[in-house]
Amino acid sequence: VHWSAEEKQLIASVWSKVNVEECGAEALARLLIVYPWTPRVFDNFGAIIGNPKVRAHGKKVLTSFGEAVKNLENLKTTYAKLSELHCEKLHVDPENFRLLGDILIIVLAAHFTKDFTPACQATWQKLVGVVAHALAYKYH
Ligand code: HEM
Repeated sequence: VHWSAEEKQLIASVWSKVNVEECGAEALARLLIVYPWTPRVFDNFGAIIGNPKVRAHGKKVLTSFGEAVKNLENLKTTYAKLSELHCEKLHVDPENFRLLGDILIIVLAAHFTKDFTPACQATWQKLVGVVAHALAYKYH
């Protein structure tokens, strides 16, 4: 995957303003609510909004997404171990990575409103797609 200088700049500038705790919790909560089958893979999260486990896990996921931002040229290696984990141990359907990526875009757009320009969205759409692909790479 090639990243232009402009794309790298758009990714870095958005990411520098992202609150991983807030946005991570919100993205995961929205995923669990909009796609009601996704909580099945988490044991016993119970209620979703305000649930400390959802918040903690959302933060973990978005923090890990930060690794992508730091390693744009090297995403498959960066996520190789996590891909194996989600496949072999967690049995997460990789389609869920795509769903989460799309939800993350909505969360960022809602947080940054007019600063999340169409060019920004296009770049982030590419990034979440490449991340989902890297996380699905070790599936068999
Ligand atoms: C655990 C990252 C998407 C389900 C984890 C962990 C990380 C992570 C870093 C912790 C691994 C560890 O403890 O060693 C990511 C990233 C994602 C993503 C970067 C996408 C950008 C998803 C999605 C689902 C999911 C969409 C399900 C719908 C799980 C589950 C665990 C987990 C069930 C174990 C939870 C637990 O420890 O209780 N993920 N994840 N992940 N992930 Fe993901």
